[in-house]
Amino acid sequence: MLILGFESSCDETAVAIVRDGREILANKISSQIEIHALYGGVVPEIASRAHTEAISSLTNEALEEAGLSLSDIDAIAVTNCPGLIGALLVGVNFAKSLAYKLGIPLIPVHHIRGHIAANYCYFDGNDGRELLVPPFTSLVMSGGHTSLIGVNGYTDFEILGATRDDAAGEAFDKVARLLSLPYPGGAKMDKLAYEGDKNYITFPQAQVKDSPFDFSFSGLKTAAINYIHKLEQNKAEYNKADIAASYTDAVVKAITKRVELLFEDNEKFKTKKFVLAGGVSANSHIRRAIAELADKYGVKLYVPPLSLCGDNAVMIASQGYYEYTVGNKTAGTNLNAYATMGIDEV
Ligand code: KG4
Ligand code: ZN
Repeated sequence: MLILGFESSCDETAVAIVRDGREILANKISSQIEIHALYGGVVPEIASRAHTEAISSLTNEALEEAGLSLSDIDAIAVTNCPGLIGALLVGVNFAKSLAYKLGIPLIPVHHIRGHIAANYCYFDGNDGRELLVPPFTSLVMSGGHTSLIGVNGYTDFEILGATRDDAAGEAFDKVARLLSLPYPGGAKMDKLAYEGDKNYITFPQAQVKDSPFDFSFSGLKTAAINYIHKLEQNKAEYNKADIAASYTDAVVKAITKRVELLFEDNEKFKTKKFVLAGGVSANSHIRRAIAELADKYGVKLYVPPLSLCGDNAVMIASQGYYEYTVGNKTAGTNLNAYATMGIDEV
């Protein structure tokens, strides 16, 4: 089954074609980073306009890359939640009209379900790679989400823990911005952290009472912001790399603490299969720390290639396949977009 997938929830317009949820035939991404970097963050109205300008030609490019025409496509999958509402609506409306014109099914996909599914296209059982199939547990870390999720089936999700305030990506981006690193700062913080001393400052660690798997990054983020502001008010010289290293170390510790607790919990973590997903799972410090933990606890770890960590439409076409074939899900021309939506609510 050939699925044409669309992703437009934030600052990348993406179109992909995936066969049977696993085989990537085309993967086109038009990034808006350069535009938003001028403002230090995503400007929603500009994002919507840029999606509108890119989506049609990107679809043609994806078809060309796959050597297919629209008449070969069996179904259309589109991110309809969560994300920037105006940005989501561009993808949803484009997908809707195309599905209507072609008379083929339209499949709505939750963006975070998609991030997890990106792994199916890499761990596909070919060329010595594992074949990843549920059940497993996933740690999803993106710009807006940091959650531990039990993936009991392709369309059956259970939230084990989530952030109570900021997401890891947001926390990285905000501090990166204060350190004058260009947007989006996450990847630049990753690199800069290698040049500094991680023991230079000890940032606070938060714990959510009675919810050991929940995350909280706002205290840590605020401590870093206050620290930098104070240095600047005092016109003090400081080494950005030391702050990046100490802050990254604090984020890594906050994450690995929850992951280790999960690995020790035989009730909540029966499968012993752990899957990383989302833009922040590109972070080399987090990848290494979790790999060490997985080794220690004999856990089978699945880490997506960097190319499938950030936003793309491959992940939407892949999850769309399972929403359709396992979840029997389709939508009509009244399909709407939603800025917020739980992974277990759709
Ligand atoms: O999943 P994603 O591409 O988009 C959302 O769904 O939000 O995640 C974007 C986030 C941004 O906050 C970006 O700074 C962060 O992922 N990111 C990183 C790295 N690469 C991307 N954060 C830390 N280290 C990285 N190497
Ligand atoms: Zn994302």
